[in-house]
Amino acid sequence: MTMEIKRVGVVGCGLMGSGIAQTCAQSGYETLVHEVNQQLLDKGLARICGAWEMLVSKQKLSEGQAQEARARLRGTLTLEAFHDCDLVIEAIIENMDEKRKLFPQLDRILRSDALIASNTSSLTIIEMAAMTNRQDRIAGLHFFNPAPVMKLVEVVRTIATSDETVETLKGFAQSLGKTPVVARDRAGFIVNFLLIPYMLAAIRMYEQGFATMEDIDTSMKLGCGYPMGPFELLDYVGLDTTLYAAQAIYDDFKDALYAPPPLLRRMVLAGRYGKKNGKGFSNMNDM
Ligand code: CAA
Repeated sequence: MTMEIKRVGVVGCGLMGSGIAQTCAQSGYETLVHEVNQQLLDKGLARICGAWEMLVSKQKLSEGQAQEARARLRGTLTLEAFHDCDLVIEAIIENMDEKRKLFPQLDRILRSDALIASNTSSLTIIEMAAMTNRQDRIAGLHFFNPAPVMKLVEVVRTIATSDETVETLKGFAQSLGKTPVVARDRAGFIVNFLLIPYMLAAIRMYEQGFATMEDIDTSMKLGCGYPMGPFELLDYVGLDTTLYAAQAIYDDFKDALYAPPPLLRRMVLAGRYGKKNGKGFSNMNDM
């Protein structure tokens, strides 16, 4: 049995939230996206509209399709506006304290049969679900950056998630043109459990003087056919996001593979977050 999804809410209109909202509106869902202030909301909505303009200019979307998608998308500054959503996807910052504040609010506002999903890349979903009275209706729905382009969605099943919720979210991901995989609620799920140690290993190799960043990137692109080298990918994903994800997986498993290398910590301490603020590995002075 699955539940019908018509209206989708997205909390957070940053890089991931805007990509998810864009994908939902483009796939025919009434989509409502929330931000904490007008400036961030305008910025996120402008990013989405810019993507649609780019798709129209590349003739991947017609003018009419772009206008229809725009008409299905609304922004809001109040969580109460989610009251009639069938599914709300949380895509706020990777901070458990913030998520633990948000989940009980959503639980109070949403209909009792509505689903809540978290786009967290590595935090434990059951810790958010435990703040609500609908643990069976909560799961992870992890998209990859850039969300409109990457074809995978991890559906993360906690010890309390119902079969109906899992099946509904798998069907929802397919309706967005994505391929769902089901992962257990363990930090890192599937992709980040493999990807994070790879990216951390590249940083350690650089710290230990194996090669330059450029040569490490070139090696993985040309030697393995990866679209980006590890340092390009670190900048693209965000150094802060990578640090939080690594720390979360390390906290769960206490495996040294996931311990953030000193250079990553220092980059984040220095305010170098990667592509999102234009300061990352690609433009740091050689150390
Ligand atoms: N909406 C729709 N389509 C979009 C888009 C958007 N917002 N942004 C880009 N696209 C499309 C473009 O139109 C383009 O399509 P065509 O090739 O058909 O013209 C395509 O996406 C590629 O875009 P670009 O031409 O601008 O760039 P590119 O060819 O250099 O590819 C890339 C960019 C897709 C990001 C590619 O480099 C890539 O796949 N990199 C690896 C990304 C990756 O590994 N992501 C996962 C990160 S891990 C993660 O996200 C998990 C986590 O929790 C940390």
